[in-house]
Amino acid sequence: MRVLVTGGAGFIGSHIVDALLARGHQCAVVDDLSSGSPANVAQGVPLYELDIRDAARLSRVFAEFRPEAVCHQAAQMSVSRSVREPVFDAEVNAIGLLNVLGAAHQSGAKQFVFASSGGVLYGDVATPADEEHPADPISPYGITKWVGERYLQFYAREFGLFCTALRYANVYGPRQNPHGEAGVVAIFCKKMLAGESPTINGDGKYIRDYVYGPDVAQANARALERTTGPGFAAYNIGTAVPTDVNELAAGLREHCQRLLNDARSKSVIPQPQHGPARAGDLRSSIVSAAKAQRELGWTPSVSIRDGLRQTAEWFAAHSAK
Ligand SMILES: NC(=O)c1ccc[n+]([C@@H]2O[C@H](COP(=O)([O-])OP(=O)(O)OC[C@H]3O[C@@H](n4cnc5c(N)ncnc54)[C@H](O)[C@@H]3O)[C@@H](O)[C@H]2O)c1
Repeated sequence: MRVLVTGGAGFIGSHIVDALLARGHQCAVVDDLSSGSPANVAQGVPLYELDIRDAARLSRVFAEFRPEAVCHQAAQMSVSRSVREPVFDAEVNAIGLLNVLGAAHQSGAKQFVFASSGGVLYGDVATPADEEHPADPISPYGITKWVGERYLQFYAREFGLFCTALRYANVYGPRQNPHGEAGVVAIFCKKMLAGESPTINGDGKYIRDYVYGPDVAQANARALERTTGPGFAAYNIGTAVPTDVNELAAGLREHCQRLLNDARSKSVIPQPQHGPARAGDLRSSIVSAAKAQRELGWTPSVSIRDGLRQTAEWFAAHSAK
């Protein structure tokens, strides 16, 4: 299948490209490189450097590549930027999505997969939320993810496009950008491998569901290959395993210290510091992926311990870059 991956030079998108190539699909990437990097894109995969807000250029790329399926990962993905700049958020995450959906439909693509978010849709949940949990987004970023799903429903109903929304939990792993505000694992790895102590917001007792990027890529591949079931479907993609930020920091500190020792560094990573709590942070966010297991045959394969180790090793190997 010819699959066009928007945001394919980013963290999750580049793992999706790798997973699709391994499954024998052909890929092209659309990315404006605002946070992604050409270095993430597998060799031989065409990279079209463009902004999804540019509908005319997008149409030309679709006409040239003629994708049978589209995997839409490109997004403005900062919650705080969406609060500061809700118009920009809507331009990229709502209008940009509509441009991609329109181009997919016009060029005859049959499948469409969209990166949605469990955390921003479900809000604070102490037990794993399923897909029936009421959506109540409070940030502009959450609102555009919710609206995005509604647009997918519209395209499925009106034009017969096979549409899937994957509601990710907290995704982490190799290639995650350590410079953004999200991506606590990447941020902590970078700090700890420099022998420094990260700052944990508040008391650190913030429960999250951490799912490994390459596992999320497999879920996307399965969703793109979905040919049965309703025209629109939403699936949670997470582990249902609760981990708080203090546990996460302790696990990473162990892996990073071992890597520093292996590199004959004399640095001893100090215990993490606690800073002020961040306004609006959810206390607990965790999803059930039972539906994805039942209908897509997807389950996460990498435990948090192994995932943190592999991520720390990747950051150690790429720390000079
Ligand atoms: N990382 C998470 O924990 C998480 C959780 C829930 C949902 N998501 C969603 O998953 C998707 C991928 O996120 P990620 O973590 O890989 O982030 P990322 O920043 O690594 O990837 C996003 C990619 O989109 C590109 N991009 C941004 N704006 C663009 C535009 N206007 N035109 C073209 N390309 C553009 C960036 O350059 C980048 O390569 C996003 O839609 C995000 O909202 C991520």
